[in-house]
Amino acid sequence: LLQPVILSGGSGTRLWPLSRESYPKQFLSLTSEHTMLQETVRRLDGLADEHPREAIGLCDPIVVCNESHRFLVAEQFRVIGRRTADIILEPKGRNTAPALTLAAFAATRDGADPILLVMPADHTIRDEVGFRAAVADACQVAAAGFVVTFGIVPSKPETGYGYIRQGAPYALKDIQDGRAHRAFRLDAFVEKPDAQTASAYLAAGQYLWNSGIFVMRASLWLGLIERFRPEIARAAGDAYQSSQVDGDFRRADADCFARCPSDSIDYAVMEPLASAADTDLPGAVVVSLDVGWSDVGAWSALWEVRERDAAGNVLDGDAFVHNARNNLLIAHHRMLAAIGVEDLIVVETPDAVLVATQSSAQDVKAVTQFLQHEH
Ligand code: GDD
Ligand code: MG
Repeated sequence: LLQPVILSGGSGTRLWPLSRESYPKQFLSLTSEHTMLQETVRRLDGLADEHPREAIGLCDPIVVCNESHRFLVAEQFRVIGRRTADIILEPKGRNTAPALTLAAFAATRDGADPILLVMPADHTIRDEVGFRAAVADACQVAAAGFVVTFGIVPSKPETGYGYIRQGAPYALKDIQDGRAHRAFRLDAFVEKPDAQTASAYLAAGQYLWNSGIFVMRASLWLGLIERFRPEIARAAGDAYQSSQVDGDFRRADADCFARCPSDSIDYAVMEPLASAADTDLPGAVVVSLDVGWSDVGAWSALWEVRERDAAGNVLDGDAFVHNARNNLLIAHHRMLAAIGVEDLIVVETPDAVLVATQSSAQDVKAVTQFLQHEH
């Protein structure tokens, strides 16, 4: 069985003013008529049919999200006629390692031990067929007892990503369609290196970005978190055991979860696993993913993945341009006219307007930091 786990706890502060704390980017329709959360579920459609030899039994997803977003999640699944296996609520986010630990306890509660497909709720993927083929390959590797990550060929020395050094090729059986979803042993994993290190990795070649999507058996994750971060395993385990079911939701126990240290999958498990010398540990494998992946981390990334007109403009809503190039203009409440401007991002909402240059898109988080101090 393949159990999707959707991590939906992020806040997407660099996509202000559309993404707000109460309504983060995974709940927005930024890249299609569906929201990014809905796309995360829909892009798995066809997996079992396209890869029958993998015998993938796809379960309804487990979603892990913040308490305050529970109705948004439930409603967005209802609208597309999809069900969830569980919606697990965190009273307060503790980053991705505790979130995945809660999901792994839920997935194994009836003595089952499915393969988990762990996915962020807020990424876009252009080639969905290619993505499903890579997932099918990853399932094969995970069934053999490995932790599987997906690697993206890096295009710039981005410091917000994890870097994976690929090692010897891992031989996949049954490559069905000639598509080489090459898999490699994972030789090193470095989360968020500094700019100098990231540049050195790019120059060295052999390094891939970690996409943030993972595949492994539920019991394997529980064993690894117990091994590397026993305090997280214990606190999240207690929070799950003492959780309360409330209609469609399962609420992690607030006191136990408050005791849980905050850490990411990458720092808590991937880095120590990749550098551990012990031979009794399972290995990790990276499957390369060349499918137009983006984590839509900032407005400039949205401009890159969206369709542009001949002058390079992305116009969403009621936007008019004249002599303007390479702008991202979003206006759904008032008309927006842009004349003679280049490389701008303008996002209009009823109560706030953002004007920024494409090159300063990463700095938009300064606004949310400012607002947090003000209010
Ligand atoms: N449920 C839950 N609870 N989900 C969370 C939490 C939490 O406390 N924190 C983050 N998430 C979700 C976010 O919604 C996002 O979809 C995903 O988990 C990843 O979290 P980020 O906070 O966006 O991680 P990151 O971008 O810093 O780094 C990760 O992703 C990169 C690729 O986008 C790492 O895996 C990097 O190695 C990777 O390169
Ligand atoms: Mg991210």
